[in-house]
Amino acid sequence: MIKTKVTEMLDCKYPIIVGTMANITTPEFVAACSNAGACAVLASANYRTPEELREAIRRTSSLTNQPFAVNINLFPALMPQDKLEGFVEATLDEGAKIIETSGHKAPEHLVPKFKQGDAIWIHKCAGVRYAKKGASLGADIITVVGYENGGATGILDIGTLVMAPSVVDALDIPVIAGGGVTDGRGVAAILALGAEGVIMGTRMMATKECPIHDNLKQAFIQARETDTSLVMRSIKNTHRVWRNKAAEQIIELESQKSSLQQIVQVASGQNALKMYREGDLDAGIVSCGQGVGLVKDIPTVKELLDRIMKDAEDVIQKLGIISK
Ligand SMILES: Cc1cc2nc3c(=O)[nH]c(=O)nc-3n(C[C@H](O)[C@H](O)[C@H](O)COP(=O)(O)O)c2cc1C
Repeated sequence: MIKTKVTEMLDCKYPIIVGTMANITTPEFVAACSNAGACAVLASANYRTPEELREAIRRTSSLTNQPFAVNINLFPALMPQDKLEGFVEATLDEGAKIIETSGHKAPEHLVPKFKQGDAIWIHKCAGVRYAKKGASLGADIITVVGYENGGATGILDIGTLVMAPSVVDALDIPVIAGGGVTDGRGVAAILALGAEGVIMGTRMMATKECPIHDNLKQAFIQARETDTSLVMRSIKNTHRVWRNKAAEQIIELESQKSSLQQIVQVASGQNALKMYREGDLDAGIVSCGQGVGLVKDIPTVKELLDRIMKDAEDVIQKLGIISK
């Protein structure tokens, strides 16, 4: 059994964080992942008001007695920033003590609330300088993702193999790293780079419990590692997504220097929901990491996590034997 500072601090069985995914990490899916040994992150961006988030946390707590985190989304395009304090208060009131923030800027104004609420604050970012800023503000753990990452990749374009150890070396607090991890080899590699935990998103979408349409799961298991693209860099919101018609449309709009409104019209959450709920694969864009090329089946979350951790242990053991 692999134990790390992160499994200790978060009190989870496996050093795996199931990354927050808007409209996907719902109470049911978070509970399934946490029950299977990971620490999953509920997406507060799924909810419009603190009351809705409160209900979702209650629902999650009713489905699992294992640890889960709540993501507070700092991307202004995804979450009205004047609501953040209410979201944090609702989270702490409901007894959820692991808060993850992700977005453009570490949330200095929220830190006193995290500390007064006795929360473990994880800040997710995509660069050494942002990691240092989060740590200097009092983050307990930094999560860092590299260029392979599904979703927001930031502006630096540094691969996970360089990003993770750079951040580990720059900080004296535990680091969770990811971007491109889909199997036990990836988990072992991230731990070898000095991180104490591994974040995964894309891989978790091809699981039985993931609340997306089967068409999308099937598309992911057919996809290759070359089937993603970066979009929305022109509007300072770079995301790695699965390259479908909507992604190609955005790439075309960006090459024509189209307006933010024209791009957001294609990239809207409503369009993504059509993909997730109706299985209309070209309705919108969906975040997706390069690791999608390694995804080949649709197991249950428990089957997947048990397999990944067993493989990680095997890899580590094998490397130990080789080095003797
Ligand atoms: C479909 C999808 C939606 C995501 N939504 C968010 C989000 O709303 N906020 C966020 O901070 N990260 C989001 N992410 C990023 C994940 O939390 C995680 O950092 C990422 O998936 C890890 O990289 P991987 O996909 O290569 O495993 C999303 C990722 C995916 C695949």
